[in-house]
Amino acid sequence: MNILVVHGPNLNLLGVREPGIYGSLTLDLINESIAALGAELGCSVSFFQSNSEGAMVDAIQQARCSCDGILINPAAYTHTSVAIRDAIAAVALPVVEVHLSNIHCREEFRRHSFIAPVAVGQIAGFGADSYLLGLRALFTHIKKEIV
Ligand code: DQA
Repeated sequence: MNILVVHGPNLNLLGVREPGIYGSLTLDLINESIAALGAELGCSVSFFQSNSEGAMVDAIQQARCSCDGILINPAAYTHTSVAIRDAIAAVALPVVEVHLSNIHCREEFRRHSFIAPVAVGQIAGFGADSYLLGLRALFTHIKKEIV
C-alpha cells in the first residue's frame, strides 16, 4: 500500500512558526514519525510539501496512478481552495484531512473546510499526533476497501 502525505503552505516552517499553536516539532521530525508508523503498519509513505496551490494540485493528480490514498494537511488552502477540493474529487482516492490545531475552536474563517466534503474524514487538534491518527485511519479505511 502506498500513501502520499501532502503538506500545504507554511508547514515547512513548523518548529519556528507560532509554536504555541503548532508545536515545536519540525516538519522533518513529523515526517520521520509518520514514516516510522508507516513501516510499522507495512505501508510505504512518500512526502510532498508546497507553498503553492497549483503544485499541490499537480501532486494530487500524480498520485492517481501511484498511490492508494492521501493524507493531507492543506493548511491555509483548507479554507480557500476549490482547486484542491476538485483535484481530490477528480482522482477519487481516499483522503484523510488532518490539522495540527483544532480549526473548529479558532477564528471563524478557519472553521470552514472546502476539503472536508471530499475527504473520508478529518482529524484536528492533536498536534503532530493528528498525522499519526490520520495515517492509522486512512490505512484501516483502505484495508477495508481492499477486502
Ligand atoms: C492548519 C490550520 C490552518 O488553519 C492553518 O492555515 C495552517 C495549519 C493546522 O494544521 O492546524 O496553516 O492546517
